[in-house]
Amino acid sequence: MMDCILAIDQGTTCTRTILFNPQGGIVATAQRDVTQHFPADGWVENDPEEIWQSVVDLCRELLSIAAARGWRVATIGIANQRETTIIWERATGRPIAPAIVWQDRRTARRCRTLIDAGQNPLVQNRTGLPLDPYFSASKIAWLLDNVPFAREAARKGDLAFGTIDCFLLWRLTGGAVHATDATNAARTMLFDIHRQRWDEELLDLFDIPAALLPDVRDNAADFGQTAQRLFPNVLTIGGMAGDQQAATVGQACFSPGMVKSTYGTGCFMVMNTGTTPVVSRHHLLTTLAYRLEGVPTYALEGGIFVAGATIQWLRDSLHLIQSAGQTEELAASLGSNAGIYFVPAFTGLGAPYWDPDARGAIFGLTRTTGIAEIVRAALEAVCYQTNDLLTAMLADAAQPITELRVDGGMAGNSWLMQFLADLLGIPVARPSAIESTAIGAACLAGLQSGLLGGLEDIAAARHAEHVFHPLLPANRRAALLDGWKAAIRRVTLPPA
Ligand code: G3P
Repeated sequence: MMDCILAIDQGTTCTRTILFNPQGGIVATAQRDVTQHFPADGWVENDPEEIWQSVVDLCRELLSIAAARGWRVATIGIANQRETTIIWERATGRPIAPAIVWQDRRTARRCRTLIDAGQNPLVQNRTGLPLDPYFSASKIAWLLDNVPFAREAARKGDLAFGTIDCFLLWRLTGGAVHATDATNAARTMLFDIHRQRWDEELLDLFDIPAALLPDVRDNAADFGQTAQRLFPNVLTIGGMAGDQQAATVGQACFSPGMVKSTYGTGCFMVMNTGTTPVVSRHHLLTTLAYRLEGVPTYALEGGIFVAGATIQWLRDSLHLIQSAGQTEELAASLGSNAGIYFVPAFTGLGAPYWDPDARGAIFGLTRTTGIAEIVRAALEAVCYQTNDLLTAMLADAAQPITELRVDGGMAGNSWLMQFLADLLGIPVARPSAIESTAIGAACLAGLQSGLLGGLEDIAAARHAEHVFHPLLPANRRAALLDGWKAAIRRVTLPPA
């Protein structure tokens, strides 16, 4: 029997499973949308049971394809939306509340109070993260404070916390393994990225009992085996990483200075900075790229909270388009952006602005504005925000950035990628398979199982399908960026 790999990519708006054949090629994909719940302004929730069911159903679908071809699934890799917070009962595996999604801003006031009390330097020094509602710590504290009896149960050790990877692992192993990986742990705002362990002082700051926390492992590690009878065979779980870190591996950004940007619900730019963490002076995160054999490789990261989610909003809430695929043609049908700027700050702004109170706006509307103009402005916003991240990264990093590796659903939009290259002024390289997140998860599992020999095998397998080169004259680029900066000034305060 030939060995193959199954990857789970549990994203904010969609769960996806991907089956890789024994040669490492993608043979089948199954996916299902995940319902987003917005119970109050700035609140975003997912249903953990819906997520779990989607993972089980989609795994079963692809396992039957593997079986029909006579392949054995040697290992599973998991990549996931990061920071999203679930607390569940250890005895039953039942979540005590809906998952609080990373975009959720309900804890903005608590974070502000801690910042005002001078706690930001402590948090930033230990975790590399600014004190912001984006990360898990304040979400965990909110659940303990607001779900009846939760704090007491947590103190007694009856509850478990996990980001999505950890929750799925718990369920997949039938409650046998409560573990996460270092890249996901690094996003909780409770993990010391220098000492590679949970930080007592931060646990005290947020009043979170250590008994809630999972064990932290490498990205390629023994994460246990699936419970009996969940699938036709017991399967090994060998790789786990936050989705952006998995994409960094899938894009083979293994040397300092290599940068990737993934366009999913949000957009996240990650730059490998090697084995020494680089402290950002320009409002980026210092975080992990991956940890293998106990050795952490660090990264600088900038995140945009809303990228593909804007297109979803245009489709599902405003009904301006029927499918995301239409946006390419609509944007290309116009000669210019007609002076329209769309700032999609639906849930505040992430790097480099860090303004949880900013809200979205469209500027420059006239009587001639139509659907195409709004769609184009929405796409352009993704590129302007990417440029903001790149500018901050260039200012922080010691070396020039010579290429941006892109992936995720929106990277399939060639108009968007060309505009991105025009705006950034550097080549934008799109790989032949834009599923870098799932590829990275599969690679990590492949490393653990021995199907892959080392990082050089991953680098050798990655090929650029298209490289978009900048074509826009400098004066037009400068004018476009001025328009964007003016729009940002109108929705946000300058960075502190
Ligand atoms: O930090 C949040 C990020 O991991 C979410 O990723 O793919 O759902 O946009 P995605």
